Amino acid sequence: MAKLKVGILISGRGSNMAALIRAAQTTGYPAEIACVVSNREDAAGLDAARKIGIPTEVISHRGYPDRETFDRDVSAAFEKHDVGLVALAGFMRIQSAWFPEHWAGRQINIHPSLLPAFPGLHVQQQALDAGVRVSGCTVHFVTPDLDAGPIIAQAAVPVLAGDTEETLSARILRQEHLLYPLVVRWFAEGRIAIADGRASIRDIPPGASLLFSAEP
Ligand code: GAR
Repeated sequence: MAKLKVGILISGRGSNMAALIRAAQTTGYPAEIACVVSNREDAAGLDAARKIGIPTEVISHRGYPDRETFDRDVSAAFEKHDVGLVALAGFMRIQSAWFPEHWAGRQINIHPSLLPAFPGLHVQQQALDAGVRVSGCTVHFVTPDLDAGPIIAQAAVPVLAGDTEETLSARILRQEHLLYPLVVRWFAEGRIAIADGRASIRDIPPGASLLFSAEP
């Protein structure tokens, strides 16, 4: 069966992008990374993608008159590569409503909190400030409402006494790198559906869409 072609959007480091690339290189993985688009020329992730020969494109948001015109060019870049799923991986631009509507049900994001808690920016600091004992990450479909689309899977980690934004971020990030490839696999296998604004995943073991890590 033909592999699902995934287009990744990044703005920076690209460690989630790298995790998806690594997964796609494993035998039997049902998706391939068709291209990586960055809105920033200096995104470190671009070099990592180029080194392994993945097509990359920089589409700087600067110089665009509005969000939608930028979004339409990003979309065209993905369509050129026959992309069937857009995965946001640390893409730090708010999209116009056009993009998530055009890619409805075909665009996912990873966010470093257990949504709907702590949307937006400085997410891990928000969790620390709130004093929660558990945080984590969420993979969800993207809708025009920021960080609010149907939740597909989550990974939970403890928040430990003495945690800083850095230590908590690192603990969550390790789970992000496990969760994102898992969700892309399920999507490529055609297991994920959306009904009534909620996502469901067919034929996976009970609880498989929630990872727990007690590691410090
Ligand atoms: C990740 O923690 C990701 O969840 C977060 O940015 C980081 C990107 O790291 N995304 C968001 O906050 C989106 N709202 P990476 O570039 O190394 O993948």
